[in-house]
Amino acid sequence: MSAVKLSERVEIVRGDITKLAVDAIVNAANGTLLGGGGVDGAIHRAAGPELLAECRTLSGCATGEAKITAGYRLPARQVIHTVGPVWHGGSRGEPELLRSCYRNACRLAHENGLSSIAFPAISTGVYGYPMRPACRIALEEAKAALERYPDLKKVVVVPFSPEAEQIYRELLQEVFS
Ligand code: APR
Repeated sequence: MSAVKLSERVEIVRGDITKLAVDAIVNAANGTLLGGGGVDGAIHRAAGPELLAECRTLSGCATGEAKITAGYRLPARQVIHTVGPVWHGGSRGEPELLRSCYRNACRLAHENGLSSIAFPAISTGVYGYPMRPACRIALEEAKAALERYPDLKKVVVVPFSPEAEQIYRELLQEVFS
């Protein structure tokens, strides 16, 4: 697959991920999977109480791992919950753990026959991961997943600020050139 075609399968959409009608949106959750603030809180508010009820049956999620639920009242069909690393300066395996979040989420999408997935900027809020390195990892892993899974038609990255959007746009050229 040529790089040009791969970049056509990546989209940058700034805004509220809970509004996206994709096959799966990814939740930047915590290890309990029982909700929280940030995008986790937004997704649970939009999905309704059935999401939490299903999450209670999952007995948590390890950092870097991912688990899938229905989307309930969301426009997205399913939610893939993943737990990003807390940033401690970058020498405690944070980059690899963040890569695992993206890899495992895309693997779950593939295994569930989903063709579009949308990611928030995992770990860049409460968990303190610097935005630029996190966005680079997101785009690198999106590219790898699009190469690995031809049936994955679209990966959407969802910046929540103009600054994050600008970083994604700059990095898109580098990663997909
Ligand atoms: N849509 C898209 N992106 C969003 C939204 C939204 N509705 N709300 C927040 N974001 C962005 C933030 O601006 C940030 O860039 O998502 C990114 C991730 O930030 P957090 O939601 O704080 O997630 P994270 O840094 O991974 O921390 C996870 O926060 O909410 C708790 O339960 C969660 O304990 C866990 C921790």
